[in-house]
Amino acid sequence: MPTVIESIESLKAYQPGKPISELEREFGVTNAIKLASNENPLGPSPKAKEAIQTAANLVHLYPDGAAFELRETIANFHNVEMEAVLTGNGSNEVLNLIARTFLKPGKDRGLMFQYAFIAYPIILKAFGVAFDVVKVSDQDFEQSLDKMYDAIHEDTKLICIANPNNPTGTFIKKDALRKFLESVPEDILVVIDEAYVEFIDDPSFSSALDLRATRENLIITRTFSKCYALAGLRVGYAVGPPKLIDYVNRVREPFNCNLIAQAAAIASLGDREFVARSVAQNTEVRAELIEGLEKLAANGVQAIPSQTNFVLVRTPRPGVEIYDALLRLGVIVRPLKGYGLEYFLRVSVGSHHENQRFLKAFSDEIRR
Ligand SMILES: Cc1ncc(COP(=O)(O)O)c(C=O)c1O
Repeated sequence: MPTVIESIESLKAYQPGKPISELEREFGVTNAIKLASNENPLGPSPKAKEAIQTAANLVHLYPDGAAFELRETIANFHNVEMEAVLTGNGSNEVLNLIARTFLKPGKDRGLMFQYAFIAYPIILKAFGVAFDVVKVSDQDFEQSLDKMYDAIHEDTKLICIANPNNPTGTFIKKDALRKFLESVPEDILVVIDEAYVEFIDDPSFSSALDLRATRENLIITRTFSKCYALAGLRVGYAVGPPKLIDYVNRVREPFNCNLIAQAAAIASLGDREFVARSVAQNTEVRAELIEGLEKLAANGVQAIPSQTNFVLVRTPRPGVEIYDALLRLGVIVRPLKGYGLEYFLRVSVGSHHENQRFLKAFSDEIRR
């Protein structure tokens, strides 16, 4: 039997949220709801649906490998040059490509926060790249950039930060981010992953895109999977210095962003009414969700303040026990043992109706 490389032997595959179809098969329930993958409960924008239908007639053709129109649309949207934009099969692929382009396995090291998005350690391990982890308190989940700065050493080559972060829902303020970006040595690549940026309404936040002008070592990633509601199509992108983006471009597969995805993403980006509606609904239902969870404070439940479309919930019993009980009621949430957060669950902000259903099932289970 062929031997596998050492770093893959010890690697645990990414555990996605349980699909509704799988739950219905396993437990014989119907009407299941999924609040496990931070998807947009509104479904895709009507303009995206129209674009998808039109594009469906063209799938005998290869997509535009350079994703010209999509990159141009993104570049105009952010007011950057087209050469600063790279698209991919979800931002996950973009992160993979960045790691592959800039890191030397066995030599360079990554740096990330504890409780950072779990794809980061998986991607680095898969490439045989070691990394250091900056501790984060499981009380306030503050990601201290001072501590991160202190953790930089001579082998650090890539710093990866989700802002806001998944699964904590917390974010780093503008002043701290600016100070950090200005102080990181220029030979260290900083990737700021802004998958949830659209949902933020705190005025002390700033996108790293607004801070990028002076930095030659900063790449920002974004996705169409969350607020833009195209998770199933897989589209994400990076914005960075054209020279760095050009290197990443050499590594990607020629048709890494499919034809339907490109068309849908262009239409979605243009549908600002849909984005506004998605954000407004999320803000409203997130407040309802947090209010419902706060009623369970005496039972040992705590909602960590969130600026995203999900909420991290502290639970009085191991999260996975409650997760299992909810599954039987057709409610899928996310246990976080893999993150080292045993007494927590992550709950996506669904529709008003889904939220009510979750709160009822969860409250009954907690008070049982
Ligand atoms: C912080 C963060 N970054 C990136 C991604 C990847 O998103 P996608 O590959 O769908 O663009 C996710 C998905 O959950 C995420 O939570």
